[in-house]
Amino acid sequence: MSLTGLFLISFLIVHLLGNLQLLDLSVEGQEKFNAYAKFMTTFPVIKIVSYLLYFSILFHAFDGLLLVRQNRAARPERYKSWKPNANSVWASRNMGLLGTIILAFIILHMSQFWYTMHWGEIGMDSQGNKDLAAVVIKTYQDGSAGMIMVSLYVIAMAAIAFHLWHGFASAFQTLGLNHKRYTPVIKTVGYAFSVIVPLAYAIIPVFILMAKN
Ligand code: HEM
Repeated sequence: MSLTGLFLISFLIVHLLGNLQLLDLSVEGQEKFNAYAKFMTTFPVIKIVSYLLYFSILFHAFDGLLLVRQNRAARPERYKSWKPNANSVWASRNMGLLGTIILAFIILHMSQFWYTMHWGEIGMDSQGNKDLAAVVIKTYQDGSAGMIMVSLYVIAMAAIAFHLWHGFASAFQTLGLNHKRYTPVIKTVGYAFSVIVPLAYAIIPVFILMAKN
């Protein structure tokens, strides 16, 4: 779980850098994004990494849910006295719930963009590339459906933030890379990452919705 988790974390950085191009909604900006999307879906090395990504998502989700079931089975009775906040944070006790929200988001998200890019009905831009930027913009600007979509995205990004709040440092701990001397650094980087990255993701759909004229 820790290895797939760290791989998914590195994906989050690359995917964010690509998506931030959508903050330029000029025609040139959209065409740049479309050219980038074409590269990301056709370049052979990236295609191989994508398969690894799909496997990691499925493995991480499946193994995570298995772990939640095992934990429940190991302690079927409830504690008489339970003061969870004394020694653990809310996110660490709800990783299964958070992961399920994130998985639901990924399924929705991939059916909206990834599926459309590969097999859906999609127009072409003036450079002859599939106009994925138009698909993304329409999704977030489409009247009340667009507003619901933007809200769902923001909620999903909050779930990712909480999931990473616990998961980032936990991955290092599991791999035994959490030496006492580095613990504060790993925790600080983890907390900063879990706030900044989901926030930057959330800004994109909100920005596109607000740019609607
Ligand atoms: C909210 C901002 C986001 C936007 C605007 C966005 C946009 C896109 C677009 C346009 C695609 C299709 C292009 C492609 O297939 O490469 C895509 C694919 C994908 N997105 Fe996102 N995304 C966002 C956030 C996220 C987050 C937070 C995750 C993970 C939790 C995620 C996971 C994925 C995955 C797994 C794919 C398929 C990638 C592949 O085929 O290699 N996205 N996204």
